[in-house]
Amino acid sequence: MTPDEGGVRLPVRTSDVASGLPADRVRELERAHGNGDLVRVLDALGIAGPFKRVSPWELEDARGRSLIHAGGYAALPFGEGPPDLVAAARAYLEDLREPSFAQQALSAWRAALETNLVALLASQAPSHAQSRVLFSNSGAEAIEIAVKLLRAARPKAPWILTFSGAYHGKTMGALSVTPTEEYQRAFRPLLPGVRVLPYGDANAVEREILTLGADQVAGVLLEPVQGEGGVVAPPPSFLADLEVLRQRHGFLVVADEIQTGLGRTGHWFASVHGGLDPDAVTLAKPLSGGLVPIGATIARSELVKTMLPGFSSRRHSSTFAGNGLAMVVGMHALEKLVDGRFDERSRIVGERGLLRLQALAERFPGLIAEVRGAGMLYALVLRDVLSPAMLGGRPELARLLASGLGVRTLHEGGVHAIISLAASGVVRFTPALDMPEEIEETLWSRVEAVAERHPQAWRMGLAAGPARLARLAALATQGGPHLQRG
Ligand SMILES: Cc1ncc(COP(=O)(O)O)c(C=O)c1O
Repeated sequence: MTPDEGGVRLPVRTSDVASGLPADRVRELERAHGNGDLVRVLDALGIAGPFKRVSPWELEDARGRSLIHAGGYAALPFGEGPPDLVAAARAYLEDLREPSFAQQALSAWRAALETNLVALLASQAPSHAQSRVLFSNSGAEAIEIAVKLLRAARPKAPWILTFSGAYHGKTMGALSVTPTEEYQRAFRPLLPGVRVLPYGDANAVEREILTLGADQVAGVLLEPVQGEGGVVAPPPSFLADLEVLRQRHGFLVVADEIQTGLGRTGHWFASVHGGLDPDAVTLAKPLSGGLVPIGATIARSELVKTMLPGFSSRRHSSTFAGNGLAMVVGMHALEKLVDGRFDERSRIVGERGLLRLQALAERFPGLIAEVRGAGMLYALVLRDVLSPAMLGGRPELARLLASGLGVRTLHEGGVHAIISLAASGVVRFTPALDMPEEIEETLWSRVEAVAERHPQAWRMGLAAGPARLARLAALATQGGPHLQRG
């Protein structure tokens, strides 16, 4: 239908995109109608793409530069567009025998994935043999379900404990337990009843429980290793100590394994490996191979029953949760992870990568302040590029520039890395768990070459040039009250 006939002419046709929109046009449209500020920041860093996928582990930028893909926020266990998962999705869509929207009906794929997830968790934490799975469409939603479980299971206990540096997502409930001032400030009031404790401090947890009263605390929500917080592992005994407290005081524990789970840190569930027997576990990112949105909250059966008894099972639902495509790809991804022993591979490759990064930090202490790793989740804590004094006495801005320029400098050297959402100054690598060894070798040798070219952090600023630095500083200062003084 044309506009003359009363219809609407959509400005971009599918055929335009399929035949390849020029990068400048993509940028113009994104800046005008999407999160334009994000595009401006990425553009100022020179890393906006759009990228071309060369293989699951390699990208190419708009200038034809080859990049090893170490980004993906731990959501790409098999890299970008793994062919076998793509084939599984295609086969499913070409043979839709079961309705894809099975919200109010039995679904074979959903039943299978529920069963396998529970079996995997129970193989590590046997108390979960009878657990149940509630699906969702993202990590934040999996957390929303966990928060609802806590509230429903212990209705007389108003408090939920979370930790400094935690990242659980940005929907309102998940945001309420993600205590980053920048993320929360503009959106208050948030959920009441959330207390923030120092991460890794079991004594602080016990003190808080005794102060509030054990019957007043619904539960504790935690990451076994803080991913977005900058790959921060708690002291070795923390999770086991928390387990002792859980049993002693009877509060519930939710382990957020959205980033750490399913092999990334060298174990199927980092929380269980650390000695915890969590009452609920949240999963998302890698669960459907990074191909289809998915979230899952696995919880003890009695918890799920208190939240969703009988006709009250209507208390929670979501149109797309458990949809056929997510379940099919989730089934294939989980089978591939488990059959391929990617927990073990991640542990072995992770140790190897960590040693290389540690050696690099020793060679270049003026660039790298610290190296962190948990399986194939790696972080470099970078030195400041510009001193806070040069930035009007704003250390946070200096840290932000360090991670931004770190990612940019790595990009220039052929490595696609990521920042940490809740930790400035940190650059992370989350390569695919199945990255072939020769590509892994190229990844680390490129990182080493970047460090050799920029042995001190300030050199990254020099390479970026004064105009780019000024643009970045201006963008950061516009960024909202969190970056302004006072
Ligand atoms: C530990 C953890 N929990 C929750 C989330 C939120 O997941 P999503 O971005 O899918 O909402 C993330 C995302 O980075 C995460 O790392």
